[in-house]
Amino acid sequence: MIPGADAAVASTAERVAEAAKAVRARAELRPRVALILGSGLGELADEIQSPVVVPYTQIPNFPVSTVTGHAGQLVLGELQGTPVVAMRGRIHFYEGYSLREVAFPVRVLRRLGAEVLIVTNAAGGLNESFSTGDLMVLTDHLNMMGMAGQSPLVGPDEPELGVRFLDMLSAYDAELRTHAHRVAEQHGFALREGIYAMVGGPAYETLAEIRFLQRAGADAVGMSTIPEVLVARHEGMRVLGISAITDMAVGKAAVHEISHADVLAAAERIKPRLAAIVRGVLNGFAACPHGNGSRGRSPHRAHAWR
Ligand code: HPA
Repeated sequence: MIPGADAAVASTAERVAEAAKAVRARAELRPRVALILGSGLGELADEIQSPVVVPYTQIPNFPVSTVTGHAGQLVLGELQGTPVVAMRGRIHFYEGYSLREVAFPVRVLRRLGAEVLIVTNAAGGLNESFSTGDLMVLTDHLNMMGMAGQSPLVGPDEPELGVRFLDMLSAYDAELRTHAHRVAEQHGFALREGIYAMVGGPAYETLAEIRFLQRAGADAVGMSTIPEVLVARHEGMRVLGISAITDMAVGKAAVHEISHADVLAAAERIKPRLAAIVRGVLNGFAACPHGNGSRGRSPHRAHAWR
């Protein structure tokens, strides 16, 4: 119970525990890594071995995704020898949920055991040296919604969930980023790096907004990811974020109109490379069977991802 709260209203911690219990009743596996698969990128979950599929509709307190291209299922099993839980389809702010609800599933993934979050998204390229079809590993973010007072961490303080004032200076794990680059190199494709800005959507940006975000230092823009990253960090998880650049409204190959169908078509082309990175990063966890993947806690951590 939150001090001073209505006794009839469950705390977030209680709602998380209830959701995690319902998933555990269906799947015994304790995942080490959580995957959030963005627009058109959900098929990686098909590769999960001995999968247990739990629809969001069957998990108490879970928000339900309503967007085309987002299936709305948790898939638990093994990928590259690593126990994982994948969110096939995510929830967005523009569907009408609060950011607290949007990021609620991440707390459940943590409660199931995940210590690492690999989060993917479809994004518009702002860096004019990028092209449609590129992949970008997130080095940092510009939380436009947070600056405007919208955050999944706004609300009653529940110390058991995490600290009140969260440090975000190194939100994106440097070691996981390095490993993602190594995997891309091994496969012979380029992996960009950059800053991801989140806007509320669902309209795509005007040219003026695009120029504004470029000047602010953003390399890509999308409508997701940052709420989940905030909550993952609040829960003490390590984070790897990857954007699939599905459209360019600026630069040499600029389009004059952005459509969801074009975004999904581009995501389809990018998917195999994104999947290769995720598989390669997971191989690092499998190579480290006793490590727990958490920063500073694994004695075997130094041997992983070599
Ligand atoms: N803007 C915002 N979100 C997006 C875009 C974009 O251009 N492409 C895919 N998601």
